[in-house]
Amino acid sequence: MLLLEEQIKIAAQHIQSGRLVAFPTETVYGLGANALDPLAVAKIFEAKERPSFDPLIVHIAVLDQVKQLIRVEDERIALLAKQFWPGPLTIVLPKSDLVPDIVTSGLDTVAVRMPDHDIALALIKTAGCPIAAPSANKFGRISPTKAAHVRKQLSKEVDYILDGGKTTVGIESTIIKLTRSGFRILRNGVISKEDISTLLPFDPTPQTANTEILAPGMIKSHYSPTKMMCIAHPELKIDKQKAGLISFSGSLEQGYRKVIRVSYQNDLKEYAVNIFDAMHQLEDDPEIELIVAEAVKEEGIGIAIMDRLKKAAHDWTS
Ligand code: TXA
Ligand code: MG
Repeated sequence: MLLLEEQIKIAAQHIQSGRLVAFPTETVYGLGANALDPLAVAKIFEAKERPSFDPLIVHIAVLDQVKQLIRVEDERIALLAKQFWPGPLTIVLPKSDLVPDIVTSGLDTVAVRMPDHDIALALIKTAGCPIAAPSANKFGRISPTKAAHVRKQLSKEVDYILDGGKTTVGIESTIIKLTRSGFRILRNGVISKEDISTLLPFDPTPQTANTEILAPGMIKSHYSPTKMMCIAHPELKIDKQKAGLISFSGSLEQGYRKVIRVSYQNDLKEYAVNIFDAMHQLEDDPEIELIVAEAVKEEGIGIAIMDRLKKAAHDWTS
């Protein structure tokens, strides 16, 4: 096994040569390519079987890198960066001409974030370019929080995988868009509306399908296992002997074939860390036909957790 430093050098060379590298961030693993190379970015869409209308997040390692990606300077970026970067916050901003249209699916905005992960930051620095990266899963499927999850879905398509162990946040970044009057949330994550509201006013203007059709939250089905999935509720009539439960409180566990407890401390952060791994485990278990997940209150991080669960269960419950 090569030293991590060596692995990062090799991975960076792949990025510089227009190839694809899967790498860990604090949220989920990303499938990265040189964000300024349209042919390299095209390979991401191909590998993921991702529709071309779904734009990518561009990852940077130092705040200065944002300048080349955006059209107008905005002092609110430094304010947000000071508090939340590196970290799981993505900011959608007017894009510069340097950013290829394929990255943004033709939109005039670009989504940017600085991940809070040493390997990701070292990779971006060593490659010497911003890295466009969606989550490293096939489009619509369960997000990867371990290198093994990437291998399961994309081993043929990816040129190199950096293994950084299990990710520490577990669900994707919060995505916000800066508007004239403040910020709007396009995707919920562990950084909540309340956290951001300490710096900027929340803009309550509702998203319209026309202007925000490409926002991540608009796609109702996502994060889906290949098996049936539903959210636990009292009237649920199922054969528990064929079902696996993603358990949070411990109170629903009786009768299930398999139980994966995501937290023993009643801690929503732990639910977020373990949610996708639990879904992967039950998806891979031949004894399980149905995945059931315990619901939580839609407050704080609970909003982001329920968003992932509802989207994962969507195809089976609608
Ligand atoms: O935590 C994360 O954000 C992870 C890690 C790898 O950084 N990335 C991630 O990427 O979740 P992805 O592609 O799975 O989700 C990014 C979402 C997409 O659904 C896309 O619609 C949205 O970001 N997005 C990207 N650019 C956008 C833009 N200019 N306007 C609105 N939404 C945008
Ligand atoms: Mg994704």
